[in-house]
Amino acid sequence: MSVKDELQKTIEDMVDDRRGLLAADESTGTITKRFEAAGIESTEETRRQYRQLLMSADNVGDYISGIILYEETLTQKSDDGKWLPELAASQGVVPGIKVDKGKGPLPGAEGDEITYGLDGLAERLREYKKQGARFTKWREVYNITDRNPTALGLKANAEMLARYAMVCQQEGFVPIVEPEVLIDGDHTMERSEEVNREVLHSVFHALHEHGASLEHMILKPSMVTPGKANGMAAPEAVAEATLRVLKRTVPAAVPAIMFLSGGQTPEQASANLNAMNVNPAANPWHVGFSYARALQQPVMDTWKGNPDQVAGAQDAFIKRAKLNTLAREGQYSADQE
Ligand code: 13P
Repeated sequence: MSVKDELQKTIEDMVDDRRGLLAADESTGTITKRFEAAGIESTEETRRQYRQLLMSADNVGDYISGIILYEETLTQKSDDGKWLPELAASQGVVPGIKVDKGKGPLPGAEGDEITYGLDGLAERLREYKKQGARFTKWREVYNITDRNPTALGLKANAEMLARYAMVCQQEGFVPIVEPEVLIDGDHTMERSEEVNREVLHSVFHALHEHGASLEHMILKPSMVTPGKANGMAAPEAVAEATLRVLKRTVPAAVPAIMFLSGGQTPEQASANLNAMNVNPAANPWHVGFSYARALQQPVMDTWKGNPDQVAGAQDAFIKRAKLNTLAREGQYSADQE
């Protein structure tokens, strides 16, 4: 198969008008924090059990088309000896892999950050392919303050996303391009809209300059919301501002926009996604979800590391996944909770 056919096949397996992605790619540090908050000890074995629980849920492939994994998970097996990426694929869920190596300060742009991990990426991808991964994720992070992101921050982060996307497409992996504008702070909805617009504009400019294939990528952005200190806006307001920004910046050639949940509650993430899909025909791209916390919080809170709670935790996961497929069709309402 040519690289282009391979990319096209992966897009077709991942993008439809109902299902979404599960981000289960927390680094060991992050999952340990989340586990501890739910009273779960974080060991290689508990992480394996937890991620197996997610992938083996009944009919998960009816709601989830792809799962983003962390490197450790690629080398783990299920209780009955299947590689975990193989278990996902057997459920109709395409396995993918987070390939960035975390972030740190961007020198010369106080308050901005930059993500690491381009060195040796092509070689790593060849290994990940042997382990079953077919798509990738890379996250750049933007803080909102009165002066951030700076012009340099916008440019440097966009360059990283474009260079990452190019290496992945060259190696036959569909890149998820994730510019996350953080919800932290006391900024207004207007400021969030302005920053999201500048971020997406710079990212698509860089993708264009590098020659990325827009047809063979997925965008994973933030929704336009007020800073967390100001509470959540109404779903209609979030949808209106978010779609306005996306329509001004994201070419229609991009097949899908799959949002991150970014610290919204599971209910808020479903309600906001629903509001963006009340008239799906008006959107030039599929508008879906690629949630971590908004899909997993109730699962961890139910499981708590207890083998007797596996079935209950899987039910909690499928319930959230299903509610988000309803939101993709504009059919979600809070009374289904
Ligand atoms: P949240 O949905 O918890 O924001 O995570 C999505 C993600 O993959 C962040 O990189």
